[in-house]
Amino acid sequence: MIEVNGLTKRYGHLLAVNHISFEAREGEVIGLLGPNGAGKTTTMRMLTGFMPPTEGSAKIAGFDVFTDSLEVRKRVGYLPERVPVYPDMTVSAYVAFWAQLRGIRIPQKRVEAVLDQVNLLDRRSTVIRNLSKGMRQRLGLAQALVHDPPVIILDEPTIGIDPQQVIEVRQSVRQLGQKHTVLFSTHILSEAEQVCDRVVIIDRGQIVAQGTPASLRQQLQHGSSLYLQVTGANEATLRKLLDTLPGVQKIERQGEGFVIQTRTNADLRGDIAQKVIQGGYRLLELRPVAMTLEDIFLDIVGRETK
Ligand SMILES: Nc1ncnc2c1ncn2[C@@H]1O[C@H](COP(=O)(O)OP(=O)(O)OP(=O)(O)O)[C@@H](O)[C@H]1O
Ligand SMILES: [Mg+2]
Repeated sequence: MIEVNGLTKRYGHLLAVNHISFEAREGEVIGLLGPNGAGKTTTMRMLTGFMPPTEGSAKIAGFDVFTDSLEVRKRVGYLPERVPVYPDMTVSAYVAFWAQLRGIRIPQKRVEAVLDQVNLLDRRSTVIRNLSKGMRQRLGLAQALVHDPPVIILDEPTIGIDPQQVIEVRQSVRQLGQKHTVLFSTHILSEAEQVCDRVVIIDRGQIVAQGTPASLRQQLQHGSSLYLQVTGANEATLRKLLDTLPGVQKIERQGEGFVIQTRTNADLRGDIAQKVIQGGYRLLELRPVAMTLEDIFLDIVGRETK
């Protein structure tokens, strides 16, 4: 449904988006995850035909985003980073205005349906300036959905709204995924993990990893970590004791104990326990530490910026 091929954008000397390629199949929810300045908005603006790329191409529903941008716009709903609203319009007049722009002849029924969908029907007569930020965000969503497009592109839809509304927006995105292909951006990893079928991690214009949350964890977790707590050994003696074990990569203090990073997925628990006991120390705890996707994300993005 969305095919992106070597898409690139240069702003002067700055390579904001650098040859990215990814796909979204029909009905998939794809998360574009990356820190500030990663190139998320730039990518979305190219996909929605607002800005030409410097290089590369993209297709939506089989239409080229740049040579067939009218066909593409019919099939895409876009919630930009900053929703352009007219503060003096009422909620329903605003959505009706968009419906008409989208070529819906008698928009009233559609306006009500879409306001109902984003939970704003009881606010239909409210003037936009009196809406809360979260409501304004949902109004932006109504604008994006009014022509019932197969593809929906949402640029950080949960930014700047309160936690309750964040939950609601995330639920809406999930629901949208049942009927539409959704591409949404976020810098919050747990959000991507909750909402998406697949995550594309972008950093400084480049894709650094992509896959399902589960497969990313698997792909990116080089080795594993163990938590060890012993009595009687200080950091130096422990290092001396364990450094000779093949596969031990790093030993770091954590609280009362140590986190040992191992190079391979080999289970070193037996070897470590043996060393500790042979060294004359008492073993209090030794367990694997699960790496969260958050750790992996920080690890990649941190490594890239070093
Ligand atoms: N119109 C522009 N002219 C020049 N540089 C730009 C322009 N728009 C964005 N940039 C730069 O391109 C890079 C990518 O910006 P972009 O807005 O796409 O990132 P983002 O991932 O959406 O970030 P954020 O999470 O802060 O919204 C940044 O370094 C930004 O400063
Ligand atoms: Mg942005």
